[in-house]
Amino acid sequence: MKHDKLNIAVVGLRFGGAFVPIYHVHPQVASVKVFDLNGELARSFAERGLCDGVYSSFDDMLSDAELDAVHLVTPIPDHARQAVAVLQAGKHCASTVPMATSLQDIRELARAVRVSGKNYMMMETTLYTYQYFYVQNMISSGELGCIQFMRGSHYQDMSFWPDYWMGLPPMWYGTHAIGPMVGLSGSRIRRVHAFGSGTMDPDLVRRYGNPYPVETAIFAFDNGMKAEATRSLFECARVYQEGLFVYGSKACFEWGFSDGDKPYVTRLIPSEDSSRRGLDAKTEVMDMPNLYQSLPEPLWPFTVGGNFDPLRPNETLKIGAGGGHHGSHPHLVHEFVMSILEERKPAVDFQMGANITAAGICAHMSAIADGQEIVVPEF
Ligand SMILES: NC(=O)c1ccc[n+]([C@@H]2O[C@H](COP(=O)([O-])OP(=O)(O)OC[C@H]3O[C@@H](n4cnc5c(N)ncnc54)[C@H](O)[C@@H]3O)[C@@H](O)[C@H]2O)c1
Repeated sequence: MKHDKLNIAVVGLRFGGAFVPIYHVHPQVASVKVFDLNGELARSFAERGLCDGVYSSFDDMLSDAELDAVHLVTPIPDHARQAVAVLQAGKHCASTVPMATSLQDIRELARAVRVSGKNYMMMETTLYTYQYFYVQNMISSGELGCIQFMRGSHYQDMSFWPDYWMGLPPMWYGTHAIGPMVGLSGSRIRRVHAFGSGTMDPDLVRRYGNPYPVETAIFAFDNGMKAEATRSLFECARVYQEGLFVYGSKACFEWGFSDGDKPYVTRLIPSEDSSRRGLDAKTEVMDMPNLYQSLPEPLWPFTVGGNFDPLRPNETLKIGAGGGHHGSHPHLVHEFVMSILEERKPAVDFQMGANITAAGICAHMSAIADGQEIVVPEF
């Protein structure tokens, strides 16, 4: 690296605005500048002292020779094209999900990553939640036994969201349901069968030619594992949930009913008594620990909501205390920054992000083809 601190830009400041103050206090970030087509919104970040400057255009930003990396948080149809432009300008790129909405766009991105030699990270929030860390630990400690099956879910009603969401094929944005299963599998998704279900308002169908409010898919992994994911966006009465369900030979982890609920852990109770049929099981509702200690101290408050108390970090760093997408935002920022400075691939690198995103794109292709098997390409 030419220096030990990075100059970062954040583009798209609605959801993206949540990341600006985190970069701003990161000890390895020298400056964070912002760009949004809405100039007033961008200037409001500078006026509140949350950033170090505002770019006047996307090209103005890309021509900044001092800029090391760009974090894209723009509308879905822009992600792939903008990421290619960032990489071609010689900058590292982080992109919010999904990486792209077509296999061709992923191929073009693969080329840009390869040619530029720069880091690409897909900023998948579910891979840095309290819950994900907890299950990872259950697996590595052996508490779960062998992983036998996984399920992922993402139910969210998108009425009144921006235009580009209207009628979106559910699995094009399947990353929150699919990502944790890929991460925990230590493998990649090789093929998929999926079905679409339900009917939607014809106005919603028109934009993307997608007739389905709900899609459900079974994925086969390279290591032989199978897993299921279900995704709904419209006209499906279910409370919000980005859920992860992992069934092991000794114990299982199940997400709470709604997104704010605590998860359940069920453990089988071993027995030598063969006169009884089946093993007993004990279920507990779990508090999630927060692994804030792996972050630089200025980032700790961002793992919770507004009630961080530096004198009682363990009290305030508990699930239920808020913290964007279950505490994930500061971990994503830290991993992106440190992967660049340490000259290594980020944990959610191009290959992993491409597999998660492409599995969703292929699931929608399968749903349109009435469940036909689709092989997920390697990039
Ligand atoms: N958990 C998650 O990972 C998560 C959560 C929410 C949103 N997202 C993703 O984040 C992205 C943004 O979500 P949002 O709800 O803020 O979207 P939004 O459409 O409400 O806002 C997008 C912002 O980007 C700006 N913008 C639009 N086009 C731009 C361009 N070409 N250049 C610069 N700025 C531009 C807009 O003015 C607006 O401020 C979406 O792609 C969504 O998929 C991910």
